[in-house]
Parts: sequence; structure tokens; C-alpha cells
Amino acid sequence: MTDPKLRVLISAEQIQTRIKELGAKISADYPSGNLHMICILKGAVFFMTDLARAMTRDVWVDFMGISTYGKGKSSSGEVRVTKDLDISIEGANVVIVEDIVDSGVTLNYLMHVLDQRKPRSIRIAALLDKPERRLRPVHVQYAGFQIEDRFVVGYGLDCAEKYRNLDDVCILEEQP
Ligand code: IMP
Ligand code: MG
Repeated sequence: MTDPKLRVLISAEQIQTRIKELGAKISADYPSGNLHMICILKGAVFFMTDLARAMTRDVWVDFMGISTYGKGKSSSGEVRVTKDLDISIEGANVVIVEDIVDSGVTLNYLMHVLDQRKPRSIRIAALLDKPERRLRPVHVQYAGFQIEDRFVVGYGLDCAEKYRNLDDVCILEEQP
């Protein structure tokens, strides 16, 4: 896809190499017990399917839908669960799989929601982390790449639902 507004920030090859490292690391950190990987729809689907296959142990996968009210480039800060988990996480080790942590509002909220369900542990795996944008504290144990405060699309990330199916993570340049 050629689009003059797009500039590759992280190539498909870099993404896949990093995901293999993360899969090995997470697998080593959980040598036993059930491990639930919870994918936050829709952006993290692409990362989830690659990360789950990079794991060297058995995992359960589940999905959660979160709406942050906002279809453009920023969310309003109001969070709502639009699709809940199918499998109970009580007593389980949980890894939340997210595309990007930006303000931290979404994951901060979700950690509180899931914590009430008494899992054994919860950690976060995010492909991208924009630490300088944080408004709420969120600790990302497994971060793929830390990036600057730029709006990015591709590999699951969208702008008003567009660009999710790009192989690379690209910076979306402002319109002149
Ligand atoms: P947070 O609640 O501000 O941390 O935002 C999390 C959500 O905002 C992510 O799951 C994305 O859906 C969206 N988001 C934040 N930054 C970007 C970006 O640069 N590109 C696309 N979506 C983004
Ligand atoms: Mg998202």
C-alpha cells in the first residue's frame, strides 16, 4: 500500500523479531500453571496472534472489548467494557495483550476491573509504549518498543478504523 501520509517507523521484520524475543521471555517467566492471554479488541488482535505463536508453552486465549469513546486520534478518557471475557480468570496468571499504551487510561481502568476477579497475577504485554504521554500509572512488563509521542498506525493500530492491516507500524503524517 503506498500512501504519501505514511512513513515506516517499525518494519514488519523488526516487529516479528521482537515478538519472538517477547514470546521466549514470557514463556520463561511462566514455567507452570495456566496462563491466560487476554487480547484487547480490536487493535491488539494482530499482535496477539503472533505473540501467542511465539510462546513455547501452552496458553489460553480470550478477548475483551473496550471502548474509550473517540473515533479519531484521541480518546476522551471514558472507558466502557463492550465485550467481556468468556473464561474465568480466578486463580489464573493473566497477561493482558494490548497494541499501545498511551495515556494509560484504558489499561489503568482494566487492571482495576480484572483485579476484582481475583486472578493469581496480572501483567501487561504491549507492542508499543509511549511513556511520555502517561496520565495514569501503568506498568508495562513486556513492551515491544518504546516510541516518541507520534500518532502511529498499522499492525492493528488504526485512525478511524483505517490502516489496521499494514504489516509495518507507520507514522501518520499530518495533512499539509
Ligand atoms: P490510552 O488509554 O490513552 O493508553 O490509549 C489506549 C488506546 O488508544 C490504544 O489501545 C489505541 O487504541 C489508542 N491509541 C493510542 N495511541 C495511538 C496511536 O498512536 N495510534 C493509534 N491508536 C492509538
Ligand atoms: Mg486499543
